[in-house]
Order: sequence, then structure tokens, then C-alpha cells
Amino acid sequence: MSFFDTLYAGSESVYGEAPDAFLVQHLPLGGVRSALDAGGGEGRHALWLARAGVAAELIDSSEAAVERCASRAREAGLALHASAVDLRSWEPQRSYDIVIAAIVLHAFKIARAVDVAERLRRAVAPGGYLYLSVHLAGGAEERMRREAAQEERAERSFFAHHHIKTLFTEEEVRAMAPWELVAKERVEGERCPRPECPYPHDVLRLLTVRR
Ligand SMILES: C[S@@+](CC[C@H](N)C(=O)[O-])C[C@H]1O[C@@H](n2cnc3c(N)ncnc32)[C@H](O)[C@@H]1O
Repeated sequence: MSFFDTLYAGSESVYGEAPDAFLVQHLPLGGVRSALDAGGGEGRHALWLARAGVAAELIDSSEAAVERCASRAREAGLALHASAVDLRSWEPQRSYDIVIAAIVLHAFKIARAVDVAERLRRAVAPGGYLYLSVHLAGGAEERMRREAAQEERAERSFFAHHHIKTLFTEEEVRAMAPWELVAKERVEGERCPRPECPYPHDVLRLLTVRR
């Protein structure tokens, strides 16, 4: 069982049910008819968008996450398509008005994250949005991970508790979302909804639009 399948096996909502307040505040929902929540977990963003009448799809490599998202959608009578997909081999088959990757790219080393982000950009329709949120290097989390890591597999990619966690620089994130900036938020020391997570995260959220 993967790290994330184990995480999602419990009955609690792991990352909460609320979408990121930043995205709710800044996404002009009016023009958004279709959405892809990539690495969407239990679907807090996809479900929010589906409730708003957006045709939302969720992909995630964790079967447990996909099943939980799909059953929540069924219970709420929402037509949300959720499927188990590994972003490492995923290729976009169509385009969407918004593509979301919330706290997902950290599961890859930097070169792979750059490659996945390029495919996520290809899935954004002209005039559509790309939303990335990531955890940043340079703060308390990086210091703590350097001390605790069993090994550092590549630059700023730490391996602990059976999964990879990469911390990015702001420049790396901007290069993965190089379009016109709609809004940006940088928060220091944000705590994870998972109470057992010991790290204060420096979080960068970018909403960009493809012109
Ligand atoms: C920190 S969680 C965030 C979930 C969700 N985006 C949210 O904001 O609540 C990271 C998610 O990335 C997914 N993930 C990790 N590696 C993946 C991969 N190779 N392909 C697809 N999803 C992956 C995990 O299963 C997990 O659901």
C-alpha cells in the first residue's frame, strides 16, 4: 500500500473538505465550465467546483482517494468523474478551463515536477487557468527535513516515511506556471490539516491565466 493509500484508509478527511480560500477568492468562476483536479486527493477542490456547476474531473494515483472522492460525489448527487491515474505517465487528452495541482508536485523530484507541470499546462484551454500550490524551500521545513531525512535523493527532495517530498524555490514554481499572474499568495509557517505532520510549511499559491 502506498503512503497516500495508507493515509486515506482512515475514516477522517485527511486534508479537510474546504477548498483553498485563496482559490475561492481569486478564481473568476463565471467563465469556468470544466476543471481538472490533478493529484486531487479526496477532492476538496473538484467537489467544490462540481457543486458550483463545473464539469469536474479528478485524477490521483491513490485508489483510496479516488474512491472516497467518487463516493462523496455520489452521495451529493454530483456528476464528478474520478479516476486512478499516475501523473508520471499521464498525457492530457483534452483541455479544461482550470487545471489544479494543489500540494502535488512535491511528490516528484524537480526534473519530474517540471515535466508534469508542462503536461498540466498543455491541458489548460486558451483563456483558462492553472492553479499551483507548493511548499517552499528555505524555511523551517527544509531545516527540519535536512535533520530528519533518511536521505536526500536529489536537490531538495527528501525521502522519509516512504515518500518523496520536494521543496521548491519560488523561481522554480514560477517557471512551471509562467503565464500571466492573476493572484499570488505566500504564507509562512502554515500548519498542515494532518495533526501528525510536524512541519510548518512555507506555502506558495499561484493562479495564472493562459492568454
Ligand atoms: C498532499 S496530497 C494533496 C491532495 C489534494 N490536492 C488536496 O489539496 O487536498 C497529494 C496528493 O498527490 C497524490 N499523488 C502523489 N503522487 C502522485 C502521482 N504520481 N500521480 C497522481 N497523484 C499523485 C497523492 O495520492 C495525494 O492525494
